[in-house]
Parts: sequence; structure tokens; C-alpha cells
Amino acid sequence: MEYCGGYEIAALGQGKRVEFEPFKKEISQKITQMYSDMIFLHGYVHCDPHHGNLKIELTDKKQIVIHLLDHGLYAQLPFEFRENYSKFWMSIIHANVQEMQEHSEKLGVKELYSYFACMVAGRSMTSVLGGKVKKRKTSEEEKQIKVDASNEIMEVLHQVPSEMLFILKTNDLLRGLNSTLGVHDNINSFATMSRSCANANFIKEYQQCKSLPHKLRVVLSHYVAYFKITTYEILLWWTSLLNLY
Ligand SMILES: Nc1ncnc2c1ncn2[C@@H]1O[C@H](COP(=O)(O)OP(=O)(O)OP(=O)(O)O)[C@@H](O)[C@H]1O
Ligand SMILES: [Mg+2]
Repeated sequence: MEYCGGYEIAALGQGKRVEFEPFKKEISQKITQMYSDMIFLHGYVHCDPHHGNLKIELTDKKQIVIHLLDHGLYAQLPFEFRENYSKFWMSIIHANVQEMQEHSEKLGVKELYSYFACMVAGRSMTSVLGGKVKKRKTSEEEKQIKVDASNEIMEVLHQVPSEMLFILKTNDLLRGLNSTLGVHDNINSFATMSRSCANANFIKEYQQCKSLPHKLRVVLSHYVAYFKITTYEILLWWTSLLNLY
């Protein structure tokens, strides 16, 4: 086994290593990208991203390298699960309650879909149902999440397939890494995740195409989805400049 250089995330939090300060958002972004690709594109997921299992390196050329260690716990996600999960995520991002309900049911959770959406997104009921997940989480919302945590959550955990338990655990660990890094605005991660979801949906739909016009339609709708995500990213960049969020 090779030795991986760099630092654990706990060693970078709260300004402990100044050289990493300008790169914290990039580190968070890279980890989100890596996990979105594992979950939505490859369906093969390292499920133990705790602090000791990641090393962050800053090269001489000022490039961030993420080393993921300890490959002892992996989840393999069947194609159908990935498809339903990515559509469930998209419905949460777009605050489409009807689709949220539909895809939640396909993942095993019928009546308690709103609790399930809160658990997946790590957001309060008000944010998930009110279309506020694309906005920054406030400290009031953090408190509300604790109030929302209830018996229903245990019930959801009983209803979901085993793959989902691994994903929920992984999502929580990733949120913990961001919190230690001090990167609390997860709004950019929605754009990153949306891209991976869109890629996964595109690959699947393109493979199922039987005629040229069908292929063209799928390619076109893929470009439209990409265009929407890029517009959203530009909006985020612009609003962050104006400090609107
Ligand atoms: N290949 C490696 N290169 C550099 N550091 C490593 C490597 N493998 C492990 N480490 C470091 O060694 C320490 C111990 O790792 P180990 O996997 O034994 O425990 P852990 O990650 O803290 O807990 P767990 O057993 O739950 O994964 C950690 O700080 C980890 O970052
Ligand atoms: Mg380890």
C-alpha cells in the first residue's frame, strides 16, 4: 500500500493551516464531485468517508488532491436504484412534490416521502416542501431539523432498501466533513450533483434509444438540462458576488 501525503480534514478546520484556507470550497466541491460520480454514474460507492479516511494534499503547483483511504466498505447500487435515487434528488432540487412522492415510493417509502426527502437532503421540512433547498441553510433551520427528527425517521429507515441505508450514512459523513471544513453553504453541491444526475440519466436514456430522431431528442434534452444547471451556477456565482444568499 502506498503512503498518501497531505492532511486529514480535521487538521484543516478553523484556520489551522493557512495555506489551505483559499481552497476549502474547492476541497468540498471535489469531494462532492467524487461522491456524486460514484453514486450516480458508477454505482460503486466508498461508504466510510470519515475524517481518518481522507487525506488532502496541496501540491507545489497549488492543486488540491484528495486521497480516499481504506477501501473496506463499499456499496454496489443496482441500476434501477440509481435511477430512482437520482430522480428523487432531482425532484427535491426542483421542489416538485408530486415527483418526490412518486420516486420516494419507488424507493420503498410511500406516505412518509416528505420525511425521507428531509433525510436525503439534510434539510428541514419547510425547506424541502417549500423549494428552499437551493438556498443556504440558516441556524434556525439547523434547530428546526432537530425538531423534525422524530419517530417517522425510524419508520423510514425500516422501509428503505439496504443500499439506501449506506447512502444515508455516507451523506451524513460527507456533511460532517463539510462542517469541519467550515463550508456550510451546500448550494454549489446541488449544481455538482445535478450534473452527475443529468449525466447518469442521459447515459441510460441514450442506451435505450432505437432510432436517430429518438437519439437527437435525448441529446437535445440533455443539453437543455446542462444549460439550466449552468444558468443556475452563473446565478449562484453572481449572487455570491452580490452577497444575496
Ligand atoms: N495509505 C495511507 N497513507 C497515509 N496515511 C494513512 C494511510 N492509511 C491510513 N492512514 C492514516 O493512518 C491513520 C489510521 O488509519 P486507520 O484506517 O487504521 O484508522 P482510522 O481511519 O482512524 O479508522 P478506521 O479503522 O475506522 O478507518 C489515519 O489517520 C489515516 O489517515
Ligand atoms: Mg481508516
